[in-house]
Amino acid sequence: MEQVKLGILGGGTVGGGVWQALSTNGALMAARLGLNLIINRVAVRDLRRSRPITIPSHRLTTDWRSVVTDPENQIIVELMGGTSLAREAVSTALRLGKPVVTANKALLSAHGPELFNLAAKHKTNLYYEAAVAGGIPIIKALRESFAGNRITRIAGIVNGTCNYILTRMKLEGADFASVLADAQRLGFAEKEPSLDVDGHDAAHKTGILASLAHGFWVNPSEIHTEGICHVSKLDIEFATQLGYTIRLLGIVKPVPSPAPVRGKSTLRSKKRTDPSSLIQVSVYPALIPNSHVLASVNYAFNAVAIQGDIVGDTLFYGRGAGQDPTASSVLSDLADAALDLRAGTFNRVPPFTGHNTQCHVAHMDEILSRFYVRLDVIDRPGVFARIASLLATANIGISSIIQPEGHSGETVPVILMLDEATNRAARKALAKIAQLPVVKSPPVLLRVETLE
Ligand code: HSE
Repeated sequence: MEQVKLGILGGGTVGGGVWQALSTNGALMAARLGLNLIINRVAVRDLRRSRPITIPSHRLTTDWRSVVTDPENQIIVELMGGTSLAREAVSTALRLGKPVVTANKALLSAHGPELFNLAAKHKTNLYYEAAVAGGIPIIKALRESFAGNRITRIAGIVNGTCNYILTRMKLEGADFASVLADAQRLGFAEKEPSLDVDGHDAAHKTGILASLAHGFWVNPSEIHTEGICHVSKLDIEFATQLGYTIRLLGIVKPVPSPAPVRGKSTLRSKKRTDPSSLIQVSVYPALIPNSHVLASVNYAFNAVAIQGDIVGDTLFYGRGAGQDPTASSVLSDLADAALDLRAGTFNRVPPFTGHNTQCHVAHMDEILSRFYVRLDVIDRPGVFARIASLLATANIGISSIIQPEGHSGETVPVILMLDEATNRAARKALAKIAQLPVVKSPPVLLRVETLE
């Protein structure tokens, strides 16, 4: 049977996982593909480091360049992480015309267009199923399965660490700091957690999904990104009482066009609000109704709900990180890469990121949202009236207002659920409310995503 030799860069958790998964299912894949995938060399940083999965020492080297340039290695698998060395290694392989499989979302997020162009220039392919949502085949779904759909919405739980923390905060009534510390102790969260808890990892993934769905490259700096550090136990409790669950969501959706305006602003307004040209791409903690399936995605699981104009609502659920789920996606890419090599096809599925020159990321200020607001106010007559008056001036409706009983002291919490308004209007109104002498702490503002 024809053999396809692989050079792997990185022998850590994922590299070891790919080695093990191929040992377990290599024969099955060979039977399915008619090709034998053979791991020829694995480049590691330190030969002496103990590894959870043993890779025979004669396969190991510390010289990544020799793995990339050795003509025997037909497909290069980049699992080293980071963006500097990984960029150099991936570029070197692509320049040699070798297909590359990567699990590196940060690399794609920072250098995607450059790497896709390099692959095209050298008539080879770049595969990245493992870069978004671990074992969930979401890249293939967007690139291939939904090729006949306009994507009308993506709502994704794409960071397992945040989902783990928010789940435990809800189920145990615990606060963020203590769950984070526990998650770090148990190995669910990194020692340096900011990439996850500040939303950047989710933004990398959401940007890649948005680019695929809407055909233009989304620069991570354009993605409005909020993490979960400011989500308090109190907000999770109030959200629960109101019938909602708080989840960190990556949201991608076209911004609806307002009714055409007559008069001299018509042209400008048309240009800026064409439904195909402005896309919301953002990451923030949001209240979602308990009845929505995403509210049941617990602990470190990921889920991506994709809505297409033809297919309607779909849901992809699974483990978004970890050795085996990530290895599963790498093996899927390896199958494609090997089949493409055999068939001599390059760019069989175009990257889908360059065909829509009319699309832009909408500024968060322009996005319409519903809001949950928590205020910490002096408990005295007339306070509600002052707050309501400022909201009325901003033309923002209140759908409910609650002062939960049982709170005593100088200040009490007040929860407002606001009708749809632009984020600009809500931000400005909240800034005015924050200045009222009766408001004693900075207001908390979270968005409500009904996902209808
Ligand atoms: N740290 C990520 C998560 C997995 O918690 O989901 C890798 O992207």
